[in-house]
Formats: sequence, structure tokens, C-alpha cells
Amino acid sequence: MGRFYAASAAIAVLISASLVSAEIPTCGPNKLCPAETPCCSAYGQCGVGAYCLGGCDPLFSHSLESCVPNPICKSQDYNLNSLDDIAPNTRYLGDASKAKWVSSGQPVAYQNEAVLLTMAPDTVGTLLATTNYVWYGKISATMTTSQGKGVVTAFIMMSDVKDEIDFEFVGIDVENAQSNYYSQGVTNYNNGRNLSTSNTVTNTHTYTIDWTPEKIDWQIDGKTLRTVERQSTWNATANRYDYPQTPARVMLSLWPAGLPSNAPGTINWAGGLVDWDSPYMQNGYYYALVNNVKVECYDPPKGASVQGSKSYKYTDKAGTNDTVVVTDDVEVLASFFATGEDPEKNPNAAASKSSSAASTKTGSAAAESTSAEVETVPGLSGAGARGEEGGPAAVVSQAPGSSVTQPAAGSLQTAGGSGGTGFSQGDTQGQSGAAGKDRRVVGGSGIAFVGALVGLLVL
Ligand SMILES: *[C@@H]1O[C@H](CO)[C@@H](O)[C@H](O)[C@H]1NC(C)=O
Ligand SMILES: *[C@@H]1O[C@H](CO)[C@@H](O)[C@H](O)[C@H]1NC(C)=O
Ligand SMILES: *[C@@H]1O[C@H](CO)[C@@H](O)[C@H](O)[C@H]1NC(C)=O
Repeated sequence: MGRFYAASAAIAVLISASLVSAEIPTCGPNKLCPAETPCCSAYGQCGVGAYCLGGCDPLFSHSLESCVPNPICKSQDYNLNSLDDIAPNTRYLGDASKAKWVSSGQPVAYQNEAVLLTMAPDTVGTLLATTNYVWYGKISATMTTSQGKGVVTAFIMMSDVKDEIDFEFVGIDVENAQSNYYSQGVTNYNNGRNLSTSNTVTNTHTYTIDWTPEKIDWQIDGKTLRTVERQSTWNATANRYDYPQTPARVMLSLWPAGLPSNAPGTINWAGGLVDWDSPYMQNGYYYALVNNVKVECYDPPKGASVQGSKSYKYTDKAGTNDTVVVTDDVEVLASFFATGEDPEKNPNAAASKSSSAASTKTGSAAAESTSAEVETVPGLSGAGARGEEGGPAAVVSQAPGSSVTQPAAGSLQTAGGSGGTGFSQGDTQGQSGAAGKDRRVVGGSGIAFVGALVGLLVL
């Protein structure tokens, strides 16, 4: 019941599990990021590079210019039948025309018809997020979920100021989808509702979030099972609607809520600890299978400040609907050391002669640099955290479409979990698990929660 927001929980897991260094500046209410690492990530830590892309929180970053503008909504069918449209977060630098999704963890192509979100032992699962944002629209995901104690599948909308609309699937209850919503990350234990459906693992359903300025509908297979009206969300204390109202990315995730290191409330909600030797695993991992995501964009809301057609930007730290403008600003980072304030920064270009291992990598991936230790990719820390593909700490060690992923996925149909042959997760840092992330422990807002999480990590 209470709790939780899927994305940040999932992100928190992904992040906290892999943090090694504790000396990362934190951000949150009344604590903005410093100028040298200006971007506040979704889980409250400051960095550059990928920290300034999707999920970068404009309210707690150094300035409103620190995070790059959000690529605008594009109506489209995302046919998830290969990994071609998916860029690992260690490679993506903000060019939404080149990648439709950004991943952390290990997505796997399945028989040219679907993408698997995988979760193998000692990993913290997989998260996919669209590169384009949606500012109201009808978003559908056609998918099956995973199953088992402690295993959570999620299809959600999440904005950079943590407005959130959720479908969550808890692996011990495959007859229900849990619907939920949050406003600016503020925990509210009364928003969750179960939506009854037929087995979410064995049946492919289409889950739809139909989101307008006035209401949210949650639908399964075209049937509306829940509606929340904006009018019903008035918060007299805050003097505003606690209603999701800012541009959000589509996120799909599979994550281990049932890790021993998680808070008891989280583990209970998820039905207990994950069994890492479970019949629900195949090829050595849990998986959820996503066939298709469809986004139908609605027009910007009436009264919106429309000054262009390419991106959304926040003009004020209130982070409400009326502080979002539509602009023509597009920023693609020149390297993993660039930020929204300095998008051209690329120390490797300037210092390529002197930095030994640098600039041998392909494409846009940044390389090691001699410059100060700053965090460049949320969830990665240390030597591999420079957006360098294949680096020792990279979450994804395989290039998209590489041969290792194919056989594993192809044999998925064979019955039974014959266990982990031939497939190995790149994320070996996942083992330490996540710090407690039960909102009830810290109370108050999700922001506070994230802050507490970071606090734990620093200890
Ligand atoms: C949803 O159902 C589960 C049991 O399957 C229950 O534990 C949970 O409290 C329900 N949530 C709500 C919001 O009713
Ligand atoms: C109203 O907003 C305040 C401030 O954000 C928050 O602390 C409180 O929990 C909200 N009330 C409800 C019922 O969500
Ligand atoms: C923002 O929301 C308010 C209701 O809180 C509404 O009256 C206003 O029209 C909205 N403005 C935009 C630009 O969406």
C-alpha cells in the first residue's frame, strides 16, 4: 500500500547499488548543486554529463540552465523488436534523434519481436526511459510482467520534478496492476489502487495512461478502470493541485524491491525477498517482455507559453505546469563532461594527445580524463563512469545487438529455468544492493527520502 514511487525507487536501486565513492555532492530542497557539478540527478546527487540529461531535476540543480531542455513529445509507435533504438546511458549524450530509449541494466532483444527487461542475480534489473518527453498524451505499453517474490515490473510516466503516473506489478500478485500517482515526489499513501486483470505474466495486455490537464485514466486493454480528476487533487496546504502536470518520460523497469538491504516496508510490499534460484527465471534472469509502446501526444495545454517546437524548459523553481515553456532550444552534450550550462565542454578534444586511454573509443562516448573527479553517469562511479563503453564499471558491457544477447534470448522459450549459461550481466557492482528506500522510514516527501538514501550511502 503506502509508499513508493516506482521510478525513483528503481533508480535508487540502480544507483545506490553501484556507488563506490561516497564523496559525491548531494542536492535536494534548500541544497542546490555546486557550479562545478551543477546537475542534480533523480536521486539527489550532483554531477555532469548524463546527470544533466533525462531525470536531471531543475529545482535542485545549480541553475535552471544546468539540465538540458527536455526533447519535445513525438507521437510514435515504439516497436520494441530489437535494441536498435536503445542507447546505454553510458553512451547517450542527449541527441533524441539518434536514440529513442536510454537504458541502464541489460535489455535483451527477443526473437525480433520484443525486448526483455532482465534482472539477473547480483544486478539491480533494467530501466528503459524514452528520450522524448510527453506533456500530456495517451501512452500505451503492450507487455507481460515478471513474477515472484520481491520482483517488481513497472510502466510509469516520470517528470524531472518527479510528477509521476504509475502502473506497477508486484510479482506475488499477477492478477492486479497497481495504479498510482505522485506530485513533485511527495509521498501520499492514499493514491494507490489495485486494478484487477487476468494473469499479467501469461497474458499480454495493453496498459494505457491517458493523461490530460484535467484527468488521468488508467486503462487495461482499452477499458478504463480508474480515473483521477485534477479537481480532486487540490492541496490547500501547498495551495496547488497535487496533480502530475509536467513533461514526463515513459519508463519501463524491472527491479528487485525484495533485497535484504531494502527497508522492511518495501520488502513486504513486494512480497518478500527475491529468490535468485527461482523457476520464474530463465537463462539465469527474471524478465518482463515489452512488445510495443505507443505515444500519442496531446497539444500543449491551453495557456502554455509556446515559443518553439523542439523542447520543454522550466522557467521557475516552482516546477508547476505554468512554469514550463515550449522552446526551440536543443542541446546535445559534446562529452560526458559537458552540462546544460556548458554543452560544448569536451576535455578530450582539447587534451587528446596527453590522455593516454582517451579518444580511442567510438562514437560520442567520452573517455577518461585527467580533469577532476566528477560524476558523469548516474549509477556509475569511479573509473568506468566516464561514459566509456566497455569500461570496467559500465553497466552494459555488451554493445547493442551483440552476439551474446541473442542466443540467451532465443532460448527463452525452452521450458524451465536451466540457469545462467552464456549470459552475463555487465553490472557486477549490483551486489551490494540498495540502501533503505521505504518512504515510511523517512516520512515526508520523496525528496526527503532520496536525501535520506544518499545520507545512508555516505555513511
Ligand atoms: C492491492 O492488493 C494487494 C494484495 O494483492 C494488497 O496487499 C494491497 O493492499 C492492495 N492495495 C490497495 C491499494 O488496495
Ligand atoms: C500537501 O502538500 C504538502 C506540501 O507539499 C505535503 O507535505 C502534504 O503531504 C500534501 N498533502 C497531501 C494530502 O498530500
Ligand atoms: C496550470 O494549471 C492550472 C490549474 O492548476 C490551470 O488553471 C492552468 O490553465 C494551467 N496552465 C497551463 C499552462 O497548463
